[in-house]
Amino acid sequence: MNDDIPQSTRQLTSLITAEGLLELALAQAPLPAPGPDEIVVRVEAAPLNPSDLNLMLAGADLGLARSEVTDEGYKVIAPIPQAAFSGLTGRIGLPIAIGNEGAGRVIAVGSSKAAKELLGATVAARGAPMYSEYRTLNIDQCLTLPPETSAAAVASCFVNPLTALGMIETMRAQNHSALVHTAAASNLGQMLVKICASDGVPLVNIVRRHDQAELLRSLGAKHVCISSAESFMADLTEAIRATKATLAFDATGGGMLAGQILSSMEQAIAPSNFSRYGSTVHKQVYIYGSLDPTPISFSRNFGMAWGMGGWYLTTYLERLDAATLQRLRARVASEVTTTFASSYAKEISLNEALDLDTIRTCARLATGEKFLINPAKR
Ligand SMILES: NC(=O)c1ccc[n+]([C@@H]2O[C@H](COP(=O)([O-])OP(=O)(O)OC[C@H]3O[C@@H](n4cnc5c(N)ncnc54)[C@H](OP(=O)(O)O)[C@@H]3O)[C@@H](O)[C@H]2O)c1
Repeated sequence: MNDDIPQSTRQLTSLITAEGLLELALAQAPLPAPGPDEIVVRVEAAPLNPSDLNLMLAGADLGLARSEVTDEGYKVIAPIPQAAFSGLTGRIGLPIAIGNEGAGRVIAVGSSKAAKELLGATVAARGAPMYSEYRTLNIDQCLTLPPETSAAAVASCFVNPLTALGMIETMRAQNHSALVHTAAASNLGQMLVKICASDGVPLVNIVRRHDQAELLRSLGAKHVCISSAESFMADLTEAIRATKATLAFDATGGGMLAGQILSSMEQAIAPSNFSRYGSTVHKQVYIYGSLDPTPISFSRNFGMAWGMGGWYLTTYLERLDAATLQRLRARVASEVTTTFASSYAKEISLNEALDLDTIRTCARLATGEKFLINPAKR
């Protein structure tokens, strides 16, 4: 069986030139033969997550993007505005292969017993580059799923599920009892609503539109605040008062929202004895996404007991003990098609991922517009 393993694989790469151009193309790369504890997966589904799009598109101006046909196929070229380019000098000339997670069928295995048992199985895996026809992976990177499971159903079973569960674990570890979540109609936000409903964790969801609020309510959300509503700050303060949330995860990572959440938390806590230093209850916002590229700004009207910082899944998992990680992975595996189900607007091939209209649609990061790449699709 291993005699049939391809020697190389096509993969989607993103390159930045010294002239400040982004170049997206398909490139042929060597496919390593599997070591003892490794397997070769034919990738059949990999989501275009916001973090993949950030790396892939590098803040390029897609309005000025153009497409070229080269000997190797399509190439997309777009200028990177100076403000974004100045932070990317470390990437110049380095083609980066993209795709943080995905799923597919095991077509070849290494010599260990554990690897051999996976031949023919459907596995989901974490670790770039998954926008590749084939990936050689260590078995530790993979989650094995029942043979009848489709790759598309489990393609997103690492990044968003573990992040949503990581938020709850962080809440408990840092002695908070409820959460605020922004951009809450995202795939991740919908998972968090389901987890909180089943685990009895009070959750305040912030969305931009009424239809998103309805969607979350249909999943069991009790508190949904609409940031475009005139009553937003009053609604948010009331929901925080009702839930006693002192911890927020903010995916927007720009504009006023993080500060507004801290203000609402402070108002909801409202110390009975006035202190010019505010309440002594610690209020924390973790910025965990970059959906809003504008600078974070706030009026500091929430006392002195507060924090704003970053939260990143990879760093979080590196610090997690093995037993907790195993518990979280086991929960994802058992609820992968329910609590942790993701939805996609469209399945596209690697070639279609270089279509300008497709790229522009994906870059909007709008609710319900996530695409799934199927590298096995012709
Ligand atoms: N730090 C980490 O380790 C980590 C791990 C996993 C995910 N994440 C982050 O989690 C977030 C959700 O990921 P996902 O895959 O679930 O996303 P998704 O399903 O693609 O949904 C994106 C959501 O973001 C909203 N949105 C886009 N731009 C916005 C803006 N400027 N202000 C407010 N909302 C905006 C969209 O709502 P509209 O329809 O209103 O535009 C949509 O609901 C992303 O920011 C991602 O980077 C971070």
